[in-house]
Order: sequence, then C-alpha cells, then structure tokens
Amino acid sequence: MPSHYIERILRARVYDVAKETPLNLAKQLSERTGNTVYLKREDLQPVFSFKLRGAYNRITQIPVEARERGVITASAGNHAQGVALSAHLLGIKATIVMPKTTPPIKVRSVRRLGGKPVLHGDSYDDAYQHALTLAGEHGQTFIHPFDDPEVIAGQGTIAAEILRQHPAPIDAIFVPIGGGGLIGGVAAYVKYVRPETKIVGVEPEDAACMHAALAAGKRVSLQQVGLFADGVAVRQVGVETFKLAKLYVDEVILVSTDEICAAIKDIFEDTRTIAEPAGALSVAGLKKYVQRESCSGKSLVAIESGANINFDRLRHVAERAELGEQREALLAVEIPERPGSFHQFCKLLGRRSITEFNYRYADSRNAQVFAGIEIAGDEERKDLIARLNEHGYPVTDMTDNEVAKLHIRYMVGGHAPGLKNELLYRFEFPERPGSLFDFLTRLGRSWNISLFHYRNHGSAYGRVLMGIQVSGQDKEKLQGLLEKMGYPFAEETANPAYQLFAGTDQITAG
Ligand SMILES: Cc1ncc(COP(=O)(O)O)c(C=O)c1O
Repeated sequence: MPSHYIERILRARVYDVAKETPLNLAKQLSERTGNTVYLKREDLQPVFSFKLRGAYNRITQIPVEARERGVITASAGNHAQGVALSAHLLGIKATIVMPKTTPPIKVRSVRRLGGKPVLHGDSYDDAYQHALTLAGEHGQTFIHPFDDPEVIAGQGTIAAEILRQHPAPIDAIFVPIGGGGLIGGVAAYVKYVRPETKIVGVEPEDAACMHAALAAGKRVSLQQVGLFADGVAVRQVGVETFKLAKLYVDEVILVSTDEICAAIKDIFEDTRTIAEPAGALSVAGLKKYVQRESCSGKSLVAIESGANINFDRLRHVAERAELGEQREALLAVEIPERPGSFHQFCKLLGRRSITEFNYRYADSRNAQVFAGIEIAGDEERKDLIARLNEHGYPVTDMTDNEVAKLHIRYMVGGHAPGLKNELLYRFEFPERPGSLFDFLTRLGRSWNISLFHYRNHGSAYGRVLMGIQVSGQDKEKLQGLLEKMGYPFAEETANPAYQLFAGTDQITAG
C-alpha cells in the first residue's frame, strides 16, 4: 500500500497552484517545551490552507472529455476555496454546494475565486447529498474533500517537503484530522521513507471521529460534532483514510477548545500570524504529548494547516487562551461582608495579576467574589486555593466549570433590594500587576464595598465599577478621598443601566 501512495505523491501535480511552504523553527515554543519544534506553514498557501494541494491534484486527473461538464463539491470551508481556485486555474467550471447557513463572507470568497456557489439545506449533510444529486444529473465530477486517493496524495506532498527540508531525524509529526485526508497522505509517505518517525493525529475532544473509529475498529458516525474547529468538524472518517490511519498512524491525541485557543496564542507569539482553530490543533496536540511523555531534546514538527478565521472569533480565542494554558484560575471565594475584607483578600493574592473581580452584595454576612487570577500552572492554582483555605476563605474552584466560564461570569450582580445608601462610581487606573490592590489600599478600609466589577481586557487602563455604602454626611468625605486618590472617576448612581439591572431597588423603565 505505501509504495502505491509514494508513487502518487511523487507525481502529484500541486505546484502550479500551491507553494512549497517553509518549515519554520518555533523558537519560543521550543524553549517553553524543551524540545526543537518546527511549524510547517500551510497557512501561507494562496487560500490560507493546504486544501488546494489535494483539490488541484484531483482535478488535474479528470479526463479531457469530462472537464467540459465541470466539477462539483460540498463544503463551506477550505476545501471549497481549494476547489474553486484550482478549477479556475485549469479553466474548469466549479459548483460549490454550501448549507444555507454559510456566512456570506465564505460565499463571496468562493465567487471571488471563480466558483459558483449553490446554497442548499441547513447542514453539511444536506449540502453533500444535494451535490451528489446534481453531479448525477449534470455529469459533473464530484471532488471529495478527503476520501479520494488523489486528494490524499496531493496532501501527502506536505510530507515529502518536510522530509526534504529536515534531513536530520524527526521524532514525531503532529497532524490535524478532519476526515483524514491530510494524515492519510502524510502518514503513508513518512512511514515508507522514515518509519521511525511517529505520526500523531490530533482531534478536538468534541469532533473525534478518527479516535472513535480506531477505538471501535470500524468507521463510526458521531451523533454530534463540535463546530469550534470548523475545518475538522467531520462526523465520519473516509473508507480510504481509515484504512491508511489504521496502518500508519501511531496514535490520536484529543484536545479541548481551551487548549486549541492557547495553541493559537502560541503560534501568534512565534510567528505573529493567527491560525484558525483547526490550523492550531497540531500545536495543541504537540504540547499535550510533550507534557504526557515528559520528553525533551526531541525534534517535533506540527503542521499549521490553515488560517481562515473570522476576526470576530478572536475575542473568544483570547478570552479562553489563558484558561487553556492553565494560566488563569477562576475561583468563587467567600469573604466576610464587612469594610476592609476586600482589601485583605486582595493582599493574600500577592502580586499576582487579577484578571477579573466580580462581586455584588447579597446578604449582610458573607459575600461571594468571582475572581480570575493569573497563575503559572496547575500547581500554583492548588497552592493558592490551599493558602486561601488556611486563612479561612472557603473556595469553589470554577476553572473547569463551563457554565461559570460561559455564562455566570457575565451574570454576577443584579439588584440588591434593601441595601441602603449605595453610591456607584466608575474609575480608571493604569493597568499593571498589583494595581487593583494599590487601588483598594488607597481607598482605605473604612468603606463597605457593595458592588465591584473589574475585568482585565488587555487594554492600557483598568476599568472598575464600584458601589460603596455611604450615609448622607459621609458623602463629602468620600468625594474628598476619591479626588485625593488621583484616579479619573465619575459618579454613576443615576445611570439607567445601573438602575435597571443592578440598583438597590428594582425599577422599571419609562
Ligand atoms: C485548516 C484545516 N486543517 C485540517 C483539516 C483536516 O483535513 P482532513 O479532512 O484531510 O483530515 C482541514 C480540512 O478541511 C482544514 O481545513
């Protein structure tokens, strides 16, 4: 089997459209993991992913008499662009069936590359079935995204480049898996030329169709697939790709969404480019492998397979990257409801950076603070919780709590009926480690803080919204103190957003 693939890979025609991409040393990742890490930069291809290699190779094999009738495929992602561009360059008409839910930007980019988009159905499966029907009716050649020997061979040219670019031994190559076309081609080539090099597949935990198939010994169809890494959101691996994986893939590692986000950040730090989630999978898997094996001094290659990401997803990526790196702990901490207790709690956190601080008065005895704290890793999180417990603060660890991460952090607050004399202020202070503690120190310990919201958004200025209980005669004293503290501030007690959603008495608009 491999020799038949080796021949196909060696004669694959991809360089009319694809580039030989660089194999870059990732300096920071290498230092951090204690290994030599290289990135195969498929994000630098003309349509920002490797998919045009397989698509072009497949389309060039179409007999002359069938070219007239054109090609057809179903895809809303990188394969669609690969097929559209390849067909255009070969002067062949391309129809791309996409689910109706496809974002307009992707539909436009297919059109821009010379393809004809057809919107059909609500899911990929609907679009796929429709593409097969149209192919039957009009005689177009269906270009499968992964389960086709010529597509697999086109993707396999990446392996030929890697081994040429790095003649010295490679301990392992990490490859993202969707339907398995990329890993099929890479594994077949590498195992023939350098069988000692490990081939490690990487899938998201919630779209692990190859992992499930290898465990079951047969292709299985997942009921549901996670869409975060949309490039690899596939329900079932191919017949041919499964055969190849059984023969040549050493193992498949699964990673979480947060770990993928952390890997996007790692790639950014080394290359100043932004990978799409599927494109960063290999780096997430590499890190997990290094941690599990405690290996050092090895030569490791990760295929950075694509960079087609919508800009507005970056907010989510940045938010989750710290959690994926285990660099942020999310804790619910119970503190006594009395003046000065906030300050005391902050003091225990030391000079650690606080990423989030969220609190709303609930009753007169104890307060629950939702706190995000920057940490160096899992050990530090455990030490910090132990230290807080020793000082009498009960802690609930929410670092792995999806409901907390996705929802509750945005919902802390609400009205505090019955709370008397609350004034609301907004502050700004220059962002640096310890700045929140300094702020509380300057405020002093005599005020009761009844509402607090702070979130480090990575900007130069930290913004705090704070409610303080102040009786009539103390208001002037507080005003004087706030002016002396030297931070820009404004009173917001009359702000309708506060009155409607967080004030001391529930009111209605109008
Ligand atoms: C960026 C990216 N990475 C990885 C893959 C997975 O490739 P395959 O389906 O051949 O396993 C895809 C598939 O479209 C992709 O777009």
